[in-house]
Formats: sequence, structure tokens, C-alpha cells
Amino acid sequence: MLEDRTGGDEDERVAALGMPIGGCPIGVVELRPDVSDIGWQSRRDEVERPERQSKRQGACHDAWGGITVGEVAYGSLASVYEWLVPDAKASPAGNAQAFEMVTAGLDPGAQILDCACGIGLLAVGLAEAGFRVTACDASPAMVERTQALARAHGVEVSTRVCRWDQLPDQGWQDRFDAVLCVGNSLAHAVGRSGRRAALDGMAFVLATGGVLALTSRNWEQIRSAGSRLDVWDRLVERAGRKAVVVYSWQVPPSWDAEHHLQISVAALQDGDQLQVTTELLPIWPFHHEELLADVAAAGLSLAGSTYDAIQPNYLVTAQRRTGLPT
Ligand SMILES: C[S@@+](CC[C@H](N)C(=O)[O-])C[C@H]1O[C@@H](n2cnc3c(N)ncnc32)[C@H](O)[C@@H]1O
Repeated sequence: MLEDRTGGDEDERVAALGMPIGGCPIGVVELRPDVSDIGWQSRRDEVERPERQSKRQGACHDAWGGITVGEVAYGSLASVYEWLVPDAKASPAGNAQAFEMVTAGLDPGAQILDCACGIGLLAVGLAEAGFRVTACDASPAMVERTQALARAHGVEVSTRVCRWDQLPDQGWQDRFDAVLCVGNSLAHAVGRSGRRAALDGMAFVLATGGVLALTSRNWEQIRSAGSRLDVWDRLVERAGRKAVVVYSWQVPPSWDAEHHLQISVAALQDGDQLQVTTELLPIWPFHHEELLADVAAAGLSLAGSTYDAIQPNYLVTAQRRTGLPT
């Protein structure tokens, strides 16, 4: 059974505190730490909430306090994403190692697509391991960070800004021996039709015999816990800077409604200052069984699933056994 180390922003969380859910701030604010029962406290009265704009794009897009934030999801979080990644996966080598169960069967030099590359930890780790790696993401800021990480590590990673539903338009038909969509990314696809379009796109670029690997949160668990605020119970240190991470879940009654996760990273700086980066992400959760049906609908054969009702995350693998219907 795989451990709960499936990446991105999902772990090191603590139990619900039963605190009320916030609004839709996005961007960077300066706060001062204060003594409270969680160790710090924001001066929220000083923070003006921006207007809530397109939920589809998943963010408030306004200039806020003089700071213009991203036009697409992860436009702000891209700058602090490393604080959301578990320690074991915070390096390219560690990240690639976490997915060895997927890549172990691939030939050296196999072509891999990471289609939700984030800041590039997995893509760069796979390139260092000798694979030919293409990395794409809907967020230009994330793709820029992937390019920078590849340069810093002296490896070649081909990058592109591209949504999953745009994969069929990239000239990559039948190309990849493996397609990875990890870090609980797929729940950002808009509803079931969006998820199916995303999976169709991933299937389209898989070579015959190629493997798709997806990770997901256990949405059954998330939904049964309901709306809540999770404050990570430790400071996360990256490149010598410590941060507190807070997740605010907004869980509506219906599975089919748009859910929200607001992630805030409060990084300590200059002695007594906090730099807070926060973003509201839209989410469309799914049952495990629905995901398996969606994978099959994309013409892929299920190879395995680690789903376990009591585990917070799982990995699904599937294979493209034959050519897809045209
Ligand atoms: C939770 S992060 C995971 C990043 C990375 N895979 C990891 O494990 O750290 C989700 C990523 O999915 C990307 N994303 C969201 N919607 C997308 C879409 N429709 N098409 C492609 N990428 C998308 C986001 O920009 C973000 O980088």
C-alpha cells in the first residue's frame, strides 16, 4: 500500500479547529505575529477583502493593496508553493523517488509528461533520472518556476503553458510513455465534464502501452469533515525561511457544487514581520468510483488504485492498451 505522500499541497495537516471560514483574499499581505492559541494572529481588520470575481478562474484577480495578482489559479501560490510540499518531496530527487512505483517499469530515456507540473520538482527530478521530460501547467507562473528550476539543476525539460483540455492541440498525439497528473491536481477540472475532457486529453497524448498516473485526495473524507480551518501544526522551513500554512476548506452540501480551498502561507521575515500569501482555489471533488469510470471513459484500462476509505490520498494508474477511437 502506498503511503500518503502523493504530493503537492495535501499533507502535514492537523485536525479541524472548527473555526469559521474566511472570504476571498488573494495576494500578499504583511502581518505581525502576536500571541494566540495558535501561536500567531493576523491583523485581519487591516486587510480589505477584494471583490470576488470569476469563480471559474478560481481566484480574486484584482489588484489588492497595490499588488496585482495572477489571472489564473496558482498565480499567487506559485511564489510560495514549496512551503506546501512535504519535506520528503521538496527536492527534485525526493519528488521523483516518491513516484518510482510508476516510473520503475519505464525504459531509460522514456518520454514522460507531467501535465500539472507546478514548480517543477517532479519534472526536474525525472529529468535528472534520465527521462525525457515535458512539463506543462495551466499557470504561467508555475511553468516559469519549472523552467527556472530546470536551469538551476542543469537539466533539459521542455515546458509549455497548457490546460488539460488543450493537450490534444499540442502535437503530442501518442507521444508519451507515461503521463503524470499528481499533487491532487485533477479536482481543479471543472465538474465531471471538465474532468472527462482533461482525462481525454491525457489519454490522447499517451502512447499505446503508456501509463497514466493520477493522485487524488480522498474526497469522501474531506467532505465528511465539512467546512473547517486546518492550521499545520509545525513551521515549514524552505531555503532558511519558516512559514505557517493554513488551509480553509469550504464544503457545500452538494458533491456537484464548486468547492473552495483557501491556502495561506505566512512566512516569517525581518524579525517580527509576516508575509502572507493567500489564494482561493476552486475544486470539484469526485468519488473514487466516479474517477475510475471517468478513466475508463477516456479509453484507458485501470491498472491499479490504492484507494482506501481510511487513507487521505490515493494513486490511480491506468494504461492505454490500444489506439483510441478516432
Ligand atoms: C496542487 S498543484 C500540484 C502541482 C504539482 N503536481 C505537485 O505535485 O506539486 C495543482 C497544479 O495543477 C495546475 N492546474 C490546475 N488546473 C489545471 C488545468 N486545467 N490544466 C493544467 N493544469 C492545471 C495548477 O496550476 C497547479 O500547478
